[in-house]
Amino acid sequence: MWNDVRQLADRIGTRRIEDLFDNANRAQEFSLHAAGMLLDYSKTQFDDQIRAALVAVAQQAGVESRREEMFGGARINETEGRAVLHTALRNLDGGPVLVDDADVMPAVMETLKRMEAVADGIRASDATDVVNIGIGGSDLGPKMATIALSPYHDGPRCHFVSNVDGADISDVLRRCDPATTVFIVASKTFTTIETMNNAQTAKDWLAHHGVSDEGRFVALSSNAEKAAEWGIPGEKVLGFEDWVGGRYSVWGPIGLTLMVAIGAEAFRAFLRGAQEMDRHFRAAPLHQNMPVLLALVGLFHNQVLGHATRAVLPYDNRLARLPAYLQQLEMESNGKGVSMDGQPLEVSSGPVVWGEPGTNGQHAFYQLIHQGTRTVPCEFLVGAAGHEGDLRHHQDLLVANCLAQSEALMKGRSMDEAREILRAKGLEGAELERQAAHRVFPGNRPSTTLVYPLLTPEVLGRIIALYEHRVFVEGVILGINSYDQWGVELGKELATSLGPVVTGEVSSEGKDGSTRQLVEYVKLYR
Ligand code: F6P
Repeated sequence: MWNDVRQLADRIGTRRIEDLFDNANRAQEFSLHAAGMLLDYSKTQFDDQIRAALVAVAQQAGVESRREEMFGGARINETEGRAVLHTALRNLDGGPVLVDDADVMPAVMETLKRMEAVADGIRASDATDVVNIGIGGSDLGPKMATIALSPYHDGPRCHFVSNVDGADISDVLRRCDPATTVFIVASKTFTTIETMNNAQTAKDWLAHHGVSDEGRFVALSSNAEKAAEWGIPGEKVLGFEDWVGGRYSVWGPIGLTLMVAIGAEAFRAFLRGAQEMDRHFRAAPLHQNMPVLLALVGLFHNQVLGHATRAVLPYDNRLARLPAYLQQLEMESNGKGVSMDGQPLEVSSGPVVWGEPGTNGQHAFYQLIHQGTRTVPCEFLVGAAGHEGDLRHHQDLLVANCLAQSEALMKGRSMDEAREILRAKGLEGAELERQAAHRVFPGNRPSTTLVYPLLTPEVLGRIIALYEHRVFVEGVILGINSYDQWGVELGKELATSLGPVVTGEVSSEGKDGSTRQLVEYVKLYR
């Protein structure tokens, strides 16, 4: 399947990306407009043949039929026997969605209304602070989106506690008043150790301050039984089905804290934005399909050219948590070593995803991106406008920096250009040669840029849905199940068995020498 693409890639040789712009229409031919956003992938080695060969790979892998299966409620999460229907959560006016011949939409809309009633209730109450207790998908999505949409906040202050490290909850509770704080316990399973410990600590904190916990906890979970056992009654539980994966769950009850922060109307706008991207993804032909193209660029860099990481670089400070969110979305989904049929994967698993907002990253790790010996494909995101209308010059500088980075990565600076600059400063001879070498930028480093009008709830919805579908396409082409996460289990099991070893209730005998040594050191200082 990959042969054609690999052969074409072999022929790239020393070709410079910037020379591809001899085609005056390249920028337009290697860009896409969808849902009001522009994806420019022209600063890559893509040419007509490579793109066509990759689209053929997507076709052969069955992306189109799999896409229909996903939207249609088929159980494409085969190792867990589940449908994958986060798209149903934002299907505000898209008609029925069937799972086993039953339409799930009435229940989805009913839950959305219940969420709105709960959120409105909290917003209208005397609550000053809301603390979301959850981890992984029950934290990263709502936290990333709540930070992203801070200009729309008109509710109580919202905090997020995820880490089992007591420092996390302590630092949050210190800022809250027990009399006016509401806790939202977000956990699909309602068994996650970190979340259950943090929730218990919150309960103890209320008791310690002589405040009743009645009515102060809301649960967001698929496991109403466990929530009830824990003491949260049914009317305070917002449930969702097993076909909503944790890292795809911000669109439903797990998004409650976001809804509390921005209100029900803005939350619906967030859903509408995602629905718009869903419609584009489902209908557009593969070669004009934004999530598909983003996936093909990613696969080309990762699978064909062998670049093991990709940097996500939002030039939008409020997207500070987007890289962390995408780490879970992409790496928990596509970090698999076994294909759908249980065979070892013959290709590499998905790449390492990392990043920080620009311009901060420029003053930290961009050195390696520009001059290091490894190529790091970069994905820039930037809003045409910012919310700070009175600080327009900041936005102008931000955009200029973003565009400058992709240009610099592509063009680089040759030895001759470096010499010229130094000669103008009066250097010559051996010293000029030595200094010039350090000022060479190899260039020819690929990047994509996604530009959107302004980071509104609607636009954020479109961006997140774009990445979700990109992960889907990459997963289908790799032949893996993007919707399970067995790789997180072993560590959880061992942590459970190591708990009593750390406290000293159980001896460390039988553990490896390294683990025993570490336990002994910890015990010395406890
Ligand atoms: O351990 C991984 C994981 O299962 C993630 O997939 C999930 O988002 C997270 O833990 C939290 O799970 P839960 O929502 O069930 O507490």
